[in-house]
Amino acid sequence: MDAREMKIKAAEAALQHVENGMRLGIGTGSTAEEFVRLLAEKVAGGLKVEGVPTSERTARLCVELGVPLKSLDELPELDLTIDGADEVDASLRLIKGGGGALLREKIVACASQRMIVIADETKVVETLGAFPLPIEINAFGQIATRIAVEKVAARLGLSGELELRSSGDGLFMTDGGHLILDASFGRIPDAEALSSQLNSIPGVVEHGLFINIASLAVIAGPSGARTLEAKQ
Ligand code: A5P
Repeated sequence: MDAREMKIKAAEAALQHVENGMRLGIGTGSTAEEFVRLLAEKVAGGLKVEGVPTSERTARLCVELGVPLKSLDELPELDLTIDGADEVDASLRLIKGGGGALLREKIVACASQRMIVIADETKVVETLGAFPLPIEINAFGQIATRIAVEKVAARLGLSGELELRSSGDGLFMTDGGHLILDASFGRIPDAEALSSQLNSIPGVVEHGLFINIASLAVIAGPSGARTLEAKQ
């Protein structure tokens, strides 16, 4: 089974949790896009759902494939969000934002009663941090914000390169008009502490650590899909 087939397997398993009439948060990334394709087939077959996309990219795909969309302001309380992740640990802590959509992804997931993560086995890790942590920052005062992030990291014993994400000839810009700092910490043993300290920096808009947000992960490997549940 190749990587795409595993993503499709995870998306198929997550689709089993979608019920008629649901208000759905719809994630961003290549795995979430497989979910959108399968969801669109169900919608064409008569399933009634309303989706809130987590990015302009996902919105475009949904429109193209006929998945009905609403804004989060029109549907501020959602039943279920299904989204991918860059890393997942055994407690369902996640790193997200590889696609740059982490702010909307977190807002939408937190407006949902449940979040299901869809991923292939390569995303499962013992300790978060091998994937560079995306930190969305305001362009104003970006150097001061970077220094503040370095200080927070140093206090927690973390070090590594902080790289402003680029795109083509310029800097990558999120859907909200912000920049992304990718932090290559390697290992993040205390994700809770890092999350709360990053949240205390005024120039940090949001970061890609998702803690106590996902309730289930569907992980697909060569022999099929398995689930990981959040420990209560
Ligand atoms: C988008 O900003 C991310 O949070 C994605 O959910 C994450 O990068 C996973 O993407 P893939 O499914 O493409 O690996």
